[in-house]
Amino acid sequence: MIRLAPSILSADFSRLGEEAAAIEKAGAHVIHVDVMDGHFVPNISYGATVMKSLCGKTKLPFDVHLMIEHPDNYLEDFVTDQTEYITVHQEACPHLHRTVQHIKSLGVKAGVALNPATSLTTLDYILDEVDLVLIMSVNPGFGGQKFIGSALKKVEALNALKEQNGYPFTIEIDGGINLQNVRSVTDAGVELVVAGSSVFGAEDIRQRVGEFLDLF
Ligand code: DX5
Ligand code: ZN
Repeated sequence: MIRLAPSILSADFSRLGEEAAAIEKAGAHVIHVDVMDGHFVPNISYGATVMKSLCGKTKLPFDVHLMIEHPDNYLEDFVTDQTEYITVHQEACPHLHRTVQHIKSLGVKAGVALNPATSLTTLDYILDEVDLVLIMSVNPGFGGQKFIGSALKKVEALNALKEQNGYPFTIEIDGGINLQNVRSVTDAGVELVVAGSSVFGAEDIRQRVGEFLDLF
């Protein structure tokens, strides 16, 4: 099953609860939570307090994308009854195996994200232990950027590894996804689709979520 995860980075922060409720009502499956620290990426977004303020406003599961240095120091903060995934960046984790085990020990699923220029081979020795691999199709830091085409080849290669080895992880894509390119990535094996500006920038959010779901 393919699931849509709108990124609240592109939502109206002054009405975050309503925006989250709106995408839930429209049929979105997951809320993508982009956490940026101004060090790992050149932008600061929001932290666990803001995410937790959505508990009760929506029942959708949280897909936490940590674009931060030293994520081990903050993992506990993001664990709630609604947290499904916590994803860290391979580039931010010198002891990635330990960090993945740490996330799992908190009772949530563990994801690893790769920046556009990072090779899949960096995950060779951990692919059998992760619940999710997030392929970045923009350089992380901002919403509304253009899809980087090489990400599609990376998804295809990752999906081939997954099928050859019977790995159970989910493949997620994040960055520059719109109604025009979403089919190319789902056809290549993506099962969790992040969309920020293309959902929250739409005149009618409900209609836009529906248009995505019609393509799944
Ligand atoms: C980028 C973030 C993305 C971003 C996606 O650093 O990780 O999740 O919000 O936004 P769009 O879909 O507008 O590229
Ligand atoms: Zn993200």
